[in-house]
Amino acid sequence: MEAALPSAEELTAAGLRLEIQGAVAKVTLARPERRNAMTGRTWTTLAHIGHGLPESVRIVVISGDGSSFSSGIDLAMFSPEGVPGETSLMARIAAGDGDRSEIDALIASYQAGYLWLRRPDIVSVAAVRGHAIGAGFQLALACDLRVLADDARLCMKEPALGLVPDLTGTKPLVDLVGVNRAIELCLTARTVSAAEARELRLAELVVPGDELEAAVADLTAALLAVPAEAATATKALLLGATEAGLEEQAAAERAAQIDRLTALARAAG
Ligand code: ACO
Repeated sequence: MEAALPSAEELTAAGLRLEIQGAVAKVTLARPERRNAMTGRTWTTLAHIGHGLPESVRIVVISGDGSSFSSGIDLAMFSPEGVPGETSLMARIAAGDGDRSEIDALIASYQAGYLWLRRPDIVSVAAVRGHAIGAGFQLALACDLRVLADDARLCMKEPALGLVPDLTGTKPLVDLVGVNRAIELCLTARTVSAAEARELRLAELVVPGDELEAAVADLTAALLAVPAEAATATKALLLGATEAGLEEQAAAERAAQIDRLTALARAAG
């Protein structure tokens, strides 16, 4: 049985909205007055959504309300007071409250909000309008596919603030643009336009702003036209391909294909 989804109150407190219609779940970052800045609660609630999604969901679309996808971490998280009701990492570390392993576990609970988006049984799509900064850029990177409006602006801001990107973004960034370009982007913390993002393979698609929703709807329909089991098995193969050797990957293809053929033969018989 699936875990329960977050309640409406929990979603609101996390600055999120969730709509599930059949095979499609839409997660919206919903604090436009803060340019969809995110807190620890946003990330733990995202993880909660991942755990609770019905098995019928095949596509997860993440977008932001208003002019920005996300301005990244809520800068109040860095203040001594922190965000109301949430642990201030800075204050805890400054006070010597909690050893390294406790802080490690807390950051891991934040990362869990990002990691589930690569699960083989779903395809995650980031629909990015305007700024995707820091934790917001990493959220877009956590998705399988990125559709950008032509006003999208991507920036890995963390090093400029004395931090490292720690919300699972470094691996997909390096996988997509290569280590040299990743060093350049992170260590200058410069902003990448939508046009450059397409050149750098940070976007599958760049569309005029007023066509973003339609482009994501078309992509969703195309993804749903492929049978679910074949999509899951193929995504699992593709995810393993970077790390595997050629022979190992060929063996994985054979094993997955035998499973598929068996299932198709059973269904036909
Ligand atoms: N945290 C908290 N509040 C924020 C954040 C944020 N990350 N970003 C914007 N806001 C607030 C602003 O303080 C402002 O509040 P106010 O209306 O009370 O003055 C409101 O949101 C609107 O922000 P503006 O700057 O007026 O909006 P604009 O559209 O001109 O700019 C932009 C948007 C580019 C996102 C800008 O707000 C910005 O640079 N924000 C900070 C980005 C940042 O450094 N994020 C941290 C990255 S590192 C990480 O994520 C780990």
